[in-house]
Amino acid sequence: MNLAKISVIVSGAKGRMGREVVAAVRAETDLTLVAECDLGDDLAGTIRDTQAQVVVDFTRPESAASNTEAILRAGARPVVGTTGFQPEDIQRLTKLAKSLDLGGLIAPNFAIGAVLLMKFAAEAARYFPAVEVIEMHHDQKLDAPSGTALKTVELIRKVQVKEFRAHPQEKETVPGSRGGRYLGVPVHSVRLPGYVASEEVLFGGPGQVLSLRHDALSRTSFMPGVILAVRKVVTLKSLHHGLETIMDA
Ligand SMILES: NC(=O)c1ccc[n+]([C@@H]2O[C@H](COP(=O)([O-])OP(=O)(O)OC[C@H]3O[C@@H](n4cnc5c(N)ncnc54)[C@H](O)[C@@H]3O)[C@@H](O)[C@H]2O)c1
Repeated sequence: MNLAKISVIVSGAKGRMGREVVAAVRAETDLTLVAECDLGDDLAGTIRDTQAQVVVDFTRPESAASNTEAILRAGARPVVGTTGFQPEDIQRLTKLAKSLDLGGLIAPNFAIGAVLLMKFAAEAARYFPAVEVIEMHHDQKLDAPSGTALKTVELIRKVQVKEFRAHPQEKETVPGSRGGRYLGVPVHSVRLPGYVASEEVLFGGPGQVLSLRHDALSRTSFMPGVILAVRKVVTLKSLHHGLETIMDA
Protein backbone atom coordinates (compact mmCIF):
# COMPACT_ATOMS: atom_id res chain seq x y z
CA MET A 1 0.00 0.00 0.00
CA ASN A 2 1.19 3.49 -0.86
CA LEU A 3 1.44 5.29 2.50
CA ALA A 4 0.81 8.69 0.91
CA LYS A 5 -2.67 7.62 -0.11
CA ILE A 6 -5.65 8.56 2.03
CA SER A 7 -7.36 5.40 3.30
CA VAL A 8 -11.14 5.47 3.03
CA ILE A 9 -14.06 3.33 4.24
CA VAL A 10 -17.48 3.74 2.63
CA SER A 11 -20.36 3.21 5.06
CA GLY A 12 -23.70 2.44 3.41
CA ALA A 13 -21.66 1.00 0.52
CA LYS A 14 -24.56 -1.05 -0.85
CA GLY A 15 -26.90 1.94 -1.13
CA ARG A 16 -27.56 4.27 -4.07
CA MET A 17 -25.09 6.92 -2.89
CA GLY A 18 -22.67 4.41 -1.35
CA ARG A 19 -22.19 2.58 -4.66
CA GLU A 20 -21.37 5.88 -6.41
CA VAL A 21 -18.88 6.80 -3.67
CA VAL A 22 -17.16 3.39 -3.91
CA ALA A 23 -16.65 3.96 -7.66
CA ALA A 24 -15.56 7.57 -7.19
CA VAL A 25 -12.97 6.70 -4.50
CA ARG A 26 -11.63 3.82 -6.63
CA ALA A 27 -11.15 6.23 -9.55
CA GLU A 28 -8.82 8.55 -7.57
CA THR A 29 -5.12 7.63 -7.51
CA ASP A 30 -4.43 9.42 -4.20
CA LEU A 31 -7.22 7.56 -2.35
CA THR A 32 -7.41 3.90 -1.37
CA LEU A 33 -10.65 2.13 -0.51
CA VAL A 34 -9.83 -0.09 2.48
CA ALA A 35 -13.33 -1.40 3.29
CA GLU A 36 -16.99 -1.24 2.36
CA CYS A 37 -19.46 -1.41 5.28
CA ASP A 38 -23.21 -1.67 5.36
CA LEU A 39 -25.98 -2.56 7.77
CA GLY A 40 -24.87 -5.21 10.28
CA ASP A 41 -21.13 -4.64 9.83
CA ASP A 42 -18.95 -3.54 12.75
CA LEU A 43 -17.97 -0.07 11.55
CA ALA A 44 -15.86 0.87 14.59
CA GLY A 45 -14.02 -2.48 14.50
CA THR A 46 -13.36 -2.09 10.76
CA ILE A 47 -11.94 1.39 11.30
CA ARG A 48 -9.60 0.05 13.99
CA ASP A 49 -8.55 -2.98 11.90
CA THR A 50 -7.89 -0.99 8.71
CA GLN A 51 -6.62 2.20 10.41
CA ALA A 52 -8.79 4.10 7.93
CA GLN A 53 -8.27 7.85 7.99
CA VAL A 54 -11.65 8.82 6.54
CA VAL A 55 -15.14 7.26 6.57
CA VAL A 56 -17.70 8.46 4.05
CA ASP A 57 -21.20 7.77 5.42
CA PHE A 58 -24.37 7.70 3.31
CA THR A 59 -26.73 5.53 5.37
CA ARG A 60 -30.08 6.37 6.97
CA PRO A 61 -31.34 9.37 8.91
CA GLU A 62 -31.81 7.30 12.10
CA SER A 63 -28.16 6.18 12.13
CA ALA A 64 -26.57 9.48 11.00
CA ALA A 65 -25.63 10.75 14.47
CA SER A 66 -24.65 7.39 16.01
CA ASN A 67 -22.47 6.46 13.01
CA THR A 68 -20.71 9.85 13.10
CA GLU A 69 -20.02 9.39 16.81
CA ALA A 70 -18.70 5.85 16.24
CA ILE A 71 -16.41 7.07 13.44
CA LEU A 72 -14.93 9.82 15.63
CA ARG A 73 -14.52 7.59 18.68
CA ALA A 74 -12.71 4.98 16.55
CA GLY A 75 -10.24 7.70 15.47
CA ALA A 76 -11.31 8.38 11.86
CA ARG A 77 -12.57 11.54 10.20
CA PRO A 78 -16.22 11.49 9.11
CA VAL A 79 -17.44 12.79 5.76
CA VAL A 80 -21.19 12.48 6.23
CA GLY A 81 -23.83 13.00 3.58
CA THR A 82 -26.59 11.23 5.49
CA THR A 83 -29.37 13.66 6.30
CA GLY A 84 -31.63 13.85 9.35
CA PHE A 85 -29.32 15.52 11.90
CA GLN A 86 -30.92 17.62 14.62
CA PRO A 87 -29.12 20.89 15.51
CA GLU A 88 -28.30 19.42 18.97
CA ASP A 89 -26.63 16.38 17.31
CA ILE A 90 -24.37 18.71 15.31
CA GLN A 91 -23.47 20.66 18.46
CA ARG A 92 -22.67 17.50 20.42
CA LEU A 93 -20.60 15.96 17.61
CA THR A 94 -18.73 19.24 17.02
CA LYS A 95 -17.69 19.22 20.70
CA LEU A 96 -16.69 15.56 20.49
CA ALA A 97 -14.54 16.12 17.36
CA LYS A 98 -12.82 19.06 19.05
CA SER A 99 -12.06 17.04 22.16
CA LEU A 100 -10.55 14.30 19.95
CA ASP A 101 -8.71 16.81 17.72
CA LEU A 102 -10.30 15.29 14.62
CA GLY A 103 -11.56 17.00 11.49
CA GLY A 104 -14.73 16.06 9.66
CA LEU A 105 -17.60 17.29 7.57
CA ILE A 106 -21.36 16.88 7.70
CA ALA A 107 -22.93 18.22 4.51
CA PRO A 108 -26.61 18.05 3.61
CA ASN A 109 -25.66 18.52 -0.05
CA PHE A 110 -22.41 17.67 -1.79
CA ALA A 111 -23.47 19.10 -5.18
CA ILE A 112 -21.49 22.29 -5.78
CA GLY A 113 -24.47 23.81 -7.67
CA ALA A 114 -26.75 23.28 -4.66
CA VAL A 115 -24.21 24.92 -2.37
CA LEU A 116 -24.11 27.92 -4.73
CA LEU A 117 -27.93 28.00 -4.76
CA MET A 118 -27.90 28.28 -0.95
CA LYS A 119 -25.32 31.06 -1.12
CA PHE A 120 -27.29 33.01 -3.75
CA ALA A 121 -30.51 32.49 -1.78
CA ALA A 122 -28.90 34.00 1.34
CA GLU A 123 -27.81 36.98 -0.78
CA ALA A 124 -31.29 37.46 -2.29
CA ALA A 125 -32.90 37.20 1.16
CA ARG A 126 -31.35 40.54 2.08
CA TYR A 127 -33.61 42.21 -0.50
CA PHE A 128 -36.69 39.95 -0.61
CA PRO A 129 -38.43 39.23 2.70
CA ALA A 130 -41.09 36.96 1.14
CA VAL A 131 -39.74 33.48 0.40
CA GLU A 132 -40.89 29.88 0.02
CA VAL A 133 -38.85 26.74 -0.70
CA ILE A 134 -39.87 23.77 -2.84
CA GLU A 135 -37.69 20.67 -2.80
CA MET A 136 -38.20 17.70 -5.12
CA HIS A 137 -36.72 14.23 -4.55
CA HIS A 138 -37.13 10.62 -5.68
CA ASP A 139 -39.93 8.65 -4.03
CA GLN A 140 -37.58 6.47 -1.92
CA LYS A 141 -36.31 9.38 0.18
CA LEU A 142 -37.13 8.79 3.86
CA ASP A 143 -36.98 12.26 5.42
CA ALA A 144 -38.90 15.41 4.62
CA PRO A 145 -38.11 18.16 4.22
CA SER A 146 -34.64 17.57 2.79
CA GLY A 147 -31.52 18.51 4.74
CA THR A 148 -30.71 20.99 1.97
CA ALA A 149 -34.07 22.74 2.35
CA LEU A 150 -33.53 23.06 6.12
CA LYS A 151 -30.02 24.42 5.63
CA THR A 152 -31.25 26.85 2.93
CA VAL A 153 -33.88 28.22 5.31
CA GLU A 154 -31.33 28.53 8.13
CA LEU A 155 -29.04 30.58 5.87
CA ILE A 156 -31.94 32.74 4.68
CA ARG A 157 -33.17 33.41 8.21
CA LYS A 158 -29.69 34.41 9.34
CA VAL A 159 -29.93 37.50 7.12
CA GLN A 160 -33.67 38.16 7.33
CA VAL A 161 -34.70 40.32 10.25
CA LYS A 162 -38.45 39.77 9.89
CA GLU A 163 -40.57 36.74 9.16
CA PHE A 164 -42.90 37.20 6.18
CA ARG A 165 -46.54 36.16 6.58
CA ALA A 166 -49.03 35.88 3.74
CA HIS A 167 -52.66 36.97 4.30
CA PRO A 168 -53.52 36.81 8.03
CA GLN A 169 -56.90 35.22 7.24
CA GLU A 170 -55.39 32.55 5.00
CA LYS A 171 -57.02 29.13 5.63
CA GLU A 172 -55.94 25.69 4.49
CA THR A 173 -58.99 23.84 3.16
CA VAL A 174 -56.68 20.88 2.54
CA PRO A 175 -54.35 20.47 5.58
CA GLY A 176 -50.69 20.84 4.60
CA SER A 177 -51.37 22.65 1.34
CA ARG A 178 -49.27 25.63 2.44
CA GLY A 179 -46.35 23.34 3.26
CA GLY A 180 -44.53 22.92 6.56
CA ARG A 181 -43.01 25.95 8.27
CA TYR A 182 -39.36 25.89 9.30
CA LEU A 183 -38.12 29.01 11.09
CA GLY A 184 -41.24 30.67 9.70
CA VAL A 185 -40.52 29.83 6.04
CA PRO A 186 -42.96 27.57 4.14
CA VAL A 187 -41.21 24.44 2.80
CA HIS A 188 -42.92 22.15 0.27
CA SER A 189 -41.62 18.61 -0.32
CA VAL A 190 -42.36 16.74 -3.55
CA ARG A 191 -41.60 12.98 -3.78
CA LEU A 192 -41.84 11.48 -7.25
CA PRO A 193 -40.01 8.84 -9.29
CA GLY A 194 -37.76 10.53 -11.85
CA TYR A 195 -36.22 13.16 -9.58
CA VAL A 196 -32.80 12.75 -7.96
CA ALA A 197 -32.65 15.99 -5.95
CA SER A 198 -33.94 19.42 -6.95
CA GLU A 199 -34.63 22.61 -5.06
CA GLU A 200 -36.26 25.87 -5.99
CA VAL A 201 -36.24 28.97 -3.81
CA LEU A 202 -38.92 31.51 -4.73
CA PHE A 203 -38.65 35.14 -3.65
CA GLY A 204 -41.62 37.42 -4.21
CA GLY A 205 -41.62 41.22 -4.29
CA PRO A 206 -43.95 43.87 -5.69
CA GLY A 207 -44.42 43.03 -9.38
CA GLN A 208 -41.61 40.47 -9.53
CA VAL A 209 -40.58 36.95 -8.60
CA LEU A 210 -37.00 35.73 -8.36
CA SER A 211 -36.66 31.98 -8.73
CA LEU A 212 -33.40 30.16 -7.96
CA ARG A 213 -33.24 26.50 -8.89
CA HIS A 214 -30.80 23.63 -8.85
CA ASP A 215 -31.33 20.14 -10.29
CA ALA A 216 -29.10 17.19 -9.47
CA LEU A 217 -29.81 14.99 -12.49
CA SER A 218 -27.70 12.05 -11.39
CA ARG A 219 -25.86 10.97 -8.24
CA THR A 220 -22.52 11.65 -9.95
CA SER A 221 -23.27 15.35 -9.26
CA PHE A 222 -22.39 14.76 -5.59
CA MET A 223 -19.04 13.03 -6.19
CA PRO A 224 -16.70 16.01 -6.80
CA GLY A 225 -17.88 17.46 -3.46
CA VAL A 226 -17.40 14.14 -1.64
CA ILE A 227 -13.89 13.65 -3.03
CA LEU A 228 -12.97 17.26 -2.20
CA ALA A 229 -14.17 16.64 1.39
CA VAL A 230 -12.21 13.37 1.73
CA ARG A 231 -9.00 15.19 0.81
CA LYS A 232 -9.81 18.19 2.99
CA VAL A 233 -10.86 16.54 6.26
CA VAL A 234 -7.43 15.00 6.85
CA THR A 235 -6.09 18.56 7.23
CA LEU A 236 -8.90 19.81 9.48
CA LYS A 237 -8.98 19.93 13.30
CA SER A 238 -12.71 20.37 13.75
CA LEU A 239 -16.06 19.16 12.48
CA HIS A 240 -17.50 21.43 9.78
CA HIS A 241 -21.12 21.68 8.72
CA GLY A 242 -21.80 22.41 5.05
CA LEU A 243 -19.60 21.95 2.00
CA GLU A 244 -19.39 25.74 1.64
CA THR A 245 -17.29 25.90 4.84
CA ILE A 246 -14.43 23.98 3.18
CA MET A 247 -14.88 24.75 -0.54
CA ASP A 248 -12.71 27.84 -0.74
CA ALA A 249 -10.44 27.25 2.25
N1 LIG B 1 -25.50 15.02 1.26
C1 LIG B 1 -25.85 14.75 0.01
O1 LIG B 1 -25.36 15.37 -0.94
C2 LIG B 1 -26.83 13.63 -0.25
C3 LIG B 1 -27.16 13.25 -1.55
C4 LIG B 1 -28.03 12.17 -1.73
C5 LIG B 1 -28.53 11.49 -0.63
N2 LIG B 1 -28.21 11.91 0.63
C6 LIG B 1 -28.63 11.19 1.83
O2 LIG B 1 -27.81 10.04 1.96
C7 LIG B 1 -28.50 9.02 2.67
C8 LIG B 1 -28.47 7.72 1.87
O3 LIG B 1 -29.19 7.89 0.66
P1 LIG B 1 -29.32 6.68 -0.38
O4 LIG B 1 -30.24 7.18 -1.43
O5 LIG B 1 -27.95 6.18 -0.76
O6 LIG B 1 -30.05 5.58 0.54
P2 LIG B 1 -30.10 4.00 0.32
O7 LIG B 1 -31.26 3.52 1.12
O8 LIG B 1 -30.02 3.65 -1.13
O9 LIG B 1 -28.75 3.46 0.98
C9 LIG B 1 -28.52 3.45 2.36
C10 LIG B 1 -27.57 2.27 2.65
O10 LIG B 1 -27.17 2.37 4.00
C11 LIG B 1 -27.30 1.08 4.59
N3 LIG B 1 -27.48 1.28 6.03
C12 LIG B 1 -28.62 1.59 6.70
N4 LIG B 1 -28.37 1.77 8.01
C13 LIG B 1 -27.03 1.55 8.16
C14 LIG B 1 -26.17 1.59 9.28
N5 LIG B 1 -26.62 1.87 10.51
N6 LIG B 1 -24.85 1.36 9.09
C15 LIG B 1 -24.37 1.07 7.85
N7 LIG B 1 -25.15 1.00 6.74
C16 LIG B 1 -26.46 1.24 6.91
C17 LIG B 1 -28.47 0.41 3.89
O11 LIG B 1 -28.41 -1.00 4.01
C18 LIG B 1 -28.23 0.89 2.46
O12 LIG B 1 -27.35 0.03 1.75
C19 LIG B 1 -29.91 9.58 2.92
O13 LIG B 1 -29.98 10.16 4.20
C20 LIG B 1 -30.05 10.66 1.85
O14 LIG B 1 -30.97 11.69 2.20
C21 LIG B 1 -27.37 12.95 0.83
